[in-house]
Amino acid sequence: MTTEVRSNTGADASNEAGAALAERTDAVILVGGQGTRLRPLTVNTPKPMLPTAGRPFLEHLLGRIRAAGMTHVVLGTSYKAEVFEEHFGDGSDLGLEIEYVVETEPLGTGGGIRNVADKLRYDTAMVFNGDVLGGTDLRAVLGTHAEKDADVTMHLVRVPDPRAFGCVPTDADGRVLEFLEKTQDPPTDQINAGIYVFRREVIESIPAGRPISVEREIFPALLDGGRAVYGHVDYAYWRDMGTPGDFVRGSSDLVRGIAPSPLLEGHHGESLVDDSASVGGGALLYGGSVVGRGAEIGAGARIDQSVIFDGARIGAGAVIERSIVAAGADIGPRTVVSDAIIGEGAVVGARCELINGLRVWPGVTIPDHGVRFSTDV
Ligand code: GDD
Ligand code: MG
Repeated sequence: MTTEVRSNTGADASNEAGAALAERTDAVILVGGQGTRLRPLTVNTPKPMLPTAGRPFLEHLLGRIRAAGMTHVVLGTSYKAEVFEEHFGDGSDLGLEIEYVVETEPLGTGGGIRNVADKLRYDTAMVFNGDVLGGTDLRAVLGTHAEKDADVTMHLVRVPDPRAFGCVPTDADGRVLEFLEKTQDPPTDQINAGIYVFRREVIESIPAGRPISVEREIFPALLDGGRAVYGHVDYAYWRDMGTPGDFVRGSSDLVRGIAPSPLLEGHHGESLVDDSASVGGGALLYGGSVVGRGAEIGAGARIDQSVIFDGARIGAGAVIERSIVAAGADIGPRTVVSDAIIGEGAVVGARCELINGLRVWPGVTIPDHGVRFSTDV
């Protein structure tokens, strides 16, 4: 009779392997996209630098990378490239060593990954889409990569509507069968969550110097070539912050502690109001709303699940829900802003109604009563 000796579960062993591997893994973050779906917020600011729960969005991801044990980070930049280095410098304030590789012409996701190859120091690189808010255990993803001895391991999640993402069916052992980017008829609800662990030589095999999509070209080619591509599926918090609706929801989830960030531990609540902001009597701030530096909220205003950037002013009795009011914008008394974006420095008069996906461009002025959806009674 053989005696079965059970180890303390495979998961623990895999996590230990992941923790050890993290110290020998470069982090690469793709932040070169134009953030088109968040315009006009991204006219002057790249998407990963938009303020989210009081910090540039990317800082939360950098905090998670540091907490997982990776210290060398390479940012693949293109659109508004200079903004990143101006803010993060060499990364030492965050306990990281950050380097920047700028694409003068955007090289796409695959080209962006290939373009940082010279900066890699280790045999393993963990590549992140720079606009995903997640709570995934990064060491566990690395653990799966080590355990499977994979060429590429990708983080996968299940979503209600997979059509806007890369659909990634796997077999019973977790091996990836297909990679179908943004297909109208997805065979599974399991999607690419935007974190990949690469064996360095796979990155070096990507054709250099031309735009190329990792999702549409590189992953299908690796699968055709029989390379070992595995999925790591989990059920942690996950959200792509690319649309206005997801941006306000993600920010609110960070403030309320539904989405984790090492930068906010112990600071959760219904709202996050900067010390230098002023809030008038009877104003209500809830739903994970954020009020930035020097912003002013008028008496009796109601701010629900919204992000008010630095220096914005909200008039008395105004209602702001599921919306973003960019820096220095001015919202008049009793105006309603619902599911809308107000661009930097825009001035909206009193008693307007801006609802339903409306976007006001930076610097635009709307007079009192200037835009309404309901009749004026
Ligand atoms: N350096 C660089 N160069 N980065 C780029 C470029 C480029 O030319 N183009 C896009 N990026 C960056 C973006 O800044 C973003 O952080 C990331 O690559 C992904 O681009 P998105 O434009 O946000 O893609 P998506 O959300 O439509 O789809 C991607 O993410 C989904 C998960 O959130 C795909 O990877 C899907 O397969 C995936 O499901
Ligand atoms: Mg995205």
